[in-house]
Amino acid sequence: MPNNIVVIGTQWGDEGKGKIVDLLTPKCSAVARFQGGHNAGHTLVLDGKKTILHLIPSGILHDDTTCFIGNGVVLSLEALEKEIAELAGIDVASRLRISESCVLILPSHIALDNARELKRGKKAIGTTGRGIGPAYEDKVARRAIKLFDCRDKAQLKAKVEQLVGYHNFLLANYFETETVSVEDTYENIVRIYDAIKDMVGDTTAELADIQKNGGNVLFEGAQGAMLDIDHGTYPYVTSSNTSAGNAAAGSGLGPRDIHHVLGIAKAYTTRVGGGPFPTELFDEIGEKIAVIGAEIGASTGRARRCGWFDAPVMRRAVINSSVDSLCITKLDVLDSLESIKICVAYDLNGERVEIAPADPILFEQCKPIYETLDGWQAVTASVRDYDALPAKAKAYLSRLEELLDVKIDMISTSPERHDTIVLKDLVNN
Ligand code: GDP
Ligand code: IMO
Ligand code: MG
Repeated sequence: MPNNIVVIGTQWGDEGKGKIVDLLTPKCSAVARFQGGHNAGHTLVLDGKKTILHLIPSGILHDDTTCFIGNGVVLSLEALEKEIAELAGIDVASRLRISESCVLILPSHIALDNARELKRGKKAIGTTGRGIGPAYEDKVARRAIKLFDCRDKAQLKAKVEQLVGYHNFLLANYFETETVSVEDTYENIVRIYDAIKDMVGDTTAELADIQKNGGNVLFEGAQGAMLDIDHGTYPYVTSSNTSAGNAAAGSGLGPRDIHHVLGIAKAYTTRVGGGPFPTELFDEIGEKIAVIGAEIGASTGRARRCGWFDAPVMRRAVINSSVDSLCITKLDVLDSLESIKICVAYDLNGERVEIAPADPILFEQCKPIYETLDGWQAVTASVRDYDALPAKAKAYLSRLEELLDVKIDMISTSPERHDTIVLKDLVNN
């Protein structure tokens, strides 16, 4: 029986999903991305060598695993071409499969994303500017161009003319900004599609075959629970469902093909871009965490906002994604702190709230209720054995388990692939 695991972020993204997917990959036959696009930035570090992936699944460094870009992903052909080129030395062509149902991100989606952000002014979402939102809008509006449209060039041309024509109308007349060349858009699609077409196919059928042969599928989420279009801090969210259920819809497998959900959470919290963040720190402790944790966005290079661990946010993520167990990352970043706070609940206008409210207006009004624990002030960086952790670090982790009623199965103590405490073998259990 296969044992398929979904790896998702349980906060606002950048929890360290890429590192954990890379670590778990050797036991899996396939790694599949199911949502998002090149807004993601997933960092893998092996023997000090850093690889940052945006579109290509974090299993690509392992020779025996096939990587899949599922139908739920919005695909920029230019970003894909660039990323394949950056992975020089890796035979991506023989190991990457791309769903023919992926929606294409066009340069005009990027222009629209940026024009919208500019128009929002102070209320800008702080998107990655990668055209993600406008591409998903076109998908839902049933006017998007999908990879399967690229096979018939005459029809593709007509679709590009129609869609980019519509985008250009908006850009020129509503946003009063520059338009995008229809001709260049079409020619680039044709050029890159022709180069990658052998990687394109019915990935649902291929994943089903892998399962039939007893192979495990590892689903790789992008972004995080609070950036989910339905369950996050709307409108300060991304434009896809980031929760575990979407691993099925976004890959074409079914809900019974998900066997374990591993939620990844930092030992504290970070967020990039705008939107509410109740436990955000504006003091020297926040700055210290940012510096030690190297909290700079892997996609856009923006500084990440830092704050304390937020249990109410995590409780919502646990519910939304049926989180079976957790991997706590970046424990080492807290090593030098004298004391560490955990937000155990919120005060919402005098009432105690345990789960982050779905209503963003109420969410904005929540004040964290903190519990303070002793810091361990000892080195956990690169520790690979649970018994070698300081007692106070263990106490911190136990308290997180207690507050969330979810077990911690893995603890990450540095960016390096193997600097990880594995308490349970999730794949071969
Ligand atoms: P992802 O988007 O969830 O894959 O996470 P990112 O790669 O955007 O951000 C996580 C950052 O933390 C990367 O720079 C990782 O190399 C780094 N990282 C991951 N795990 C650990 C850890 O346990 N300790 C430290 N210090 N850094 C880590
Ligand atoms: P990974 O997979 C952190 C944020 C953006 C912005 C909001 C909407 O590396 O965890 P979008 O471009 O998606 O329309 O932006 O979502 N965002 C991320 N934040 N990690 C990510 O990906 C993110 N992808 C998008 O900063 O606030
Ligand atoms: Mg990231």
